[in-house]
Amino acid sequence: MSTTPATAARETDPRSAVRTLLRLWPYVRPVRVRLFTAAGVAVVASCVGLVIPLVLKWMVDGPVADRDPAGVWLGALYLLLLGLTEALLFGLRRWLVARPLSHVEAEMRAGLYRHLQRLPVAFHDRWASGQLLSRGTTDLMLLRMFLAFPLTFLLVNGVTILVGVIIMLAQDWTLGVVILGPVVPMIVMCVVFEKRYADVARLAQDQVGDLTTVVEEGVLGIRIIKGFGRHRSQARAFRELSATLRGTELRKARLLAAIWAVIVTLPEVAIGAALVVGAVQVADGELSAGTLVAFLSTALALRWPVESIGFLLAMSQEAATATERYFEVMDELPESTTPVAVAGGGMRKDAGAAVAAEVTVPADGASKGADAGGIRFESVSFRYPDAPPGSPPVLDRVDLHIRPGESLALVGATGSGKTTLTALVPRLHEVTEGRITLDGEDIRAMSRAELRAKVAVAFEEPTLFSASVGENVLMGAGPDAGPDDLDRALAVAQADFVHALPQGTATQVGEQGHSLSGGQRQRLALARAVVGRPRFLVLDDPLSALDVHTEAAVEAALRQVLADTTALIVAHRPSTVLLADRVALLSGGRITAVGTHHELLRTNAEYAHLMSGAEEYQEDPTR
Ligand SMILES: Nc1ncnc2c1ncn2[C@@H]1O[C@H](COP(=O)(O)OP(=O)(O)OP(=O)(O)O)[C@@H](O)[C@H]1O
Ligand SMILES: [Mg+2]
Repeated sequence: MSTTPATAARETDPRSAVRTLLRLWPYVRPVRVRLFTAAGVAVVASCVGLVIPLVLKWMVDGPVADRDPAGVWLGALYLLLLGLTEALLFGLRRWLVARPLSHVEAEMRAGLYRHLQRLPVAFHDRWASGQLLSRGTTDLMLLRMFLAFPLTFLLVNGVTILVGVIIMLAQDWTLGVVILGPVVPMIVMCVVFEKRYADVARLAQDQVGDLTTVVEEGVLGIRIIKGFGRHRSQARAFRELSATLRGTELRKARLLAAIWAVIVTLPEVAIGAALVVGAVQVADGELSAGTLVAFLSTALALRWPVESIGFLLAMSQEAATATERYFEVMDELPESTTPVAVAGGGMRKDAGAAVAAEVTVPADGASKGADAGGIRFESVSFRYPDAPPGSPPVLDRVDLHIRPGESLALVGATGSGKTTLTALVPRLHEVTEGRITLDGEDIRAMSRAELRAKVAVAFEEPTLFSASVGENVLMGAGPDAGPDDLDRALAVAQADFVHALPQGTATQVGEQGHSLSGGQRQRLALARAVVGRPRFLVLDDPLSALDVHTEAAVEAALRQVLADTTALIVAHRPSTVLLADRVALLSGGRITAVGTHHELLRTNAEYAHLMSGAEEYQEDPTR
């Protein structure tokens, strides 16, 4: 959990912060005019500040030396005006950038969210949710701050320092050379710092992701944690991770302190040296007092631009890391929305080609025709992408035909691959070999939208969203489904309890539906699966949490729905199996027997064994 899949790749790939940050350009482009204007305004404001020492010089060498009070007042007025202009311009800059940058952040966040929705299930299996969460929050905030501040000020301060140095050299080049003395060691220090800081910043941001994962798991699993009294160990895990993060943050702080010390001390020493040299020159009459004043005030005015470089670089480095982390997710290939060209049946061009599913498929025209209707698995093999090499595939050349209008129960020992097999039909995972056809058409030849409109699913874990009961159910239907469809679906799923809820179907279910019982959630998930009157229905043990009477009622209602629907139903209990026309037994990654429940009970020992435990239990509930 502590590493993301991208971490390994990163270590071998030396990166450049600038190149990484340049990837932000497409998002910044729409607001570039404002951003550049703001930077221009800031440069002008900063240079206005540099005129102040020149006015001081004029005052010291002119009115002050001549003891002319009117001239001094005039000088003071100039200074006031210059100060005001500088302040107003900086205010204008802030106003210019605030709105467009929040727009950039929002756009990037929306882009990330859209992309996450389109990424395949295999991606989500691999990535910890906290890592994704932290990328969508902390990292994007860092980016907005970078665009608002360090980006502009690295430029502004760079220009200011350059102009200031030119002014100082023009005042007196010997003093200028004294001031410039520390430049080379400072540049060397900054380069070293950049490199070190980059590594620590990346570590810290990854650790924030891990910490987010722990917090998220802790909140979602609060029932288990409390039920098993695990809050101490959970708190310990949290403390350990946050101590690690704190350690990393302290390393960052130490690095920053070191560079800061150098950046503050060296210029101070240089200014001190210039003061001594300048004072000697003034005493010798080689330099006017006004020039020395102007020189030193210019040097002092440059102190802040120079000192800020340390943390501007640090913030830029963090932004580069954030950009890198953002694009690690954005660079993952989404599921293609366009159909893949499939040899044999229903050929269409794959414009996206994002999913590299160029699979060799037997091009048998024979599979067309009456016999090809329904759901057909043709030598389907499947292996999880992250399965260790050499391990046997979860599904191994599965052949299965569910005839149109038929319902087929899928039975198998736990862990035999039933859920995996059902997930292949709506293409939550891609088959490794072979193909699946719906009414003769390869599922890869359909667009995902088309496929998912045809196939409805309900999984073992009924997932509900924080929305109303009605919205949760209607999620399974097209946009034109109405209250009648909702009522019919609720009736089929025997979810009448909904009408007894405080606001009926408008009642909000809490996060993940935790305000409902397990059986209630299952029935809503079932209602969601049937509400769109799908051609194909895939149910993964949909009735496991129901009592026998409710199950019987759901079955009776389902029979009506299933009459014109082709259904694949994963079942553990004989009562669920009896709902189906035929049963298939999944064992060792293969379909080892197909037949009616009673046939298989008689002829297949493994099936009889799987079902017997359940039957005994049902016949003797006191056990
Ligand atoms: N995302 C995944 N990545 C890697 N392996 C997985 C993944 N999901 C499941 N597996 C493995 O695939 C095998 C089949 O799992 P599956 O969930 O399909 O079993 P099942 O038949 O549905 O079991 P059950 O009856 O307990 O629900 C198991 O060995 C499991 O460890
Ligand atoms: Mg399962």
